Amino acid sequence: MEDLGPPAGPERPLLALETSCDDTCAAVVTPAGEILSDVVSSQARFHERYGGVVPEVASRHHLELVNAVVEDALAEGGVGLDEIGTVAATSGPGLIGALLVGLSTAKALAAAARLPFVPVDHLHGHVAANYLAPDPIEPPFLCLIASGGHTLLASVEERSGYRLLGATRDDAAGEALDKAARLLGLGYPGGAEIDRLARAGDPGAFEFPVGMRGDDSLDFSFSGLKTALAYTVRDLGEGEAIDRRADLAASFQRAVVDSLMLKLERAVESTGAARLAIGGGVAANSELRSRVAALCELEGLDLKIPPPRLCTDNAAMIASAARFLEAVPYPRFLGFDAFARRAA
Ligand code: KG4
Ligand code: ZN
Repeated sequence: MEDLGPPAGPERPLLALETSCDDTCAAVVTPAGEILSDVVSSQARFHERYGGVVPEVASRHHLELVNAVVEDALAEGGVGLDEIGTVAATSGPGLIGALLVGLSTAKALAAAARLPFVPVDHLHGHVAANYLAPDPIEPPFLCLIASGGHTLLASVEERSGYRLLGATRDDAAGEALDKAARLLGLGYPGGAEIDRLARAGDPGAFEFPVGMRGDDSLDFSFSGLKTALAYTVRDLGEGEAIDRRADLAASFQRAVVDSLMLKLERAVESTGAARLAIGGGVAANSELRSRVAALCELEGLDLKIPPPRLCTDNAAMIASAARFLEAVPYPRFLGFDAFARRAA
């Protein structure tokens, strides 16, 4: 049969960019949520020596990488820019200089091809990773997002957004794991390293505090946990702390997951949710994934967990969210700006 290529208009695939932190990402996704390509260029090796993301270094690398990443996404997706129907990009929250690189590039591509543009909220993107094919989740559902910059519980009633039920009052869950990894002399980003090391350790070896345990809200707190680990490492002494790294990692991870599960269980109870989804980089964590699965099994809830690579930052989730938002025609989007934080 003759290949007619993608159909015209809104039936055409979306091209999305994501540069809110230290990954330069571009993806091509169909309006039905099938991923045609999903390119992620991680800058982790450039930031590792600093033990965290250096905003200026991130912006500079985004600038160097973004065009090649977009070209790869189009090539891997088997489409040219002239076959794209809509362009989308993360507009915030995140590192402002990093966001501006992806947003400006996406606006320029949309303007050059006279395509409509969709600005996407990064956290809506993490929620929308759950709408990608195969097996997208249908609202209403309860969603836990835990990443390096954010930790929140949301009630999702429609695919165009979410309602906040609770959030961290200080550090994010991923930030706590990254800081713990640094204290234990592990690499950056630390969450995946802790996950790996924790498998060889005893989660009951050390007792770390579970933040906001006695608090009725659906908010989280992780800063006390980090301080507790710093004291434990100091009391053990450097040599002993290194020897017992696996136990420390397992116990610390247990406390982070306990904190997340405590509020998640409470939210299931208070909302009467029948469906649950998780997202964000920490949703790649093996202990969290199995604990959430066990909860859903016990309570008879439907569960959606994206594969690990769609939990950490990617542009497919941004394209996915854009499918449910209003596309702004050229040239109205040209003045759109990035934002580092959402207005309170
Ligand atoms: O969603 P994400 O890629 O970027 C942000 O929006 O922040 O999340 C990154 C965070 C980092 O803190 C990283 O350590 C954590 O996700 N992370 C993990 C795992 N993989 C990444 N945390 C726990 N276990 C993992 N396997
Ligand atoms: Zn993220």
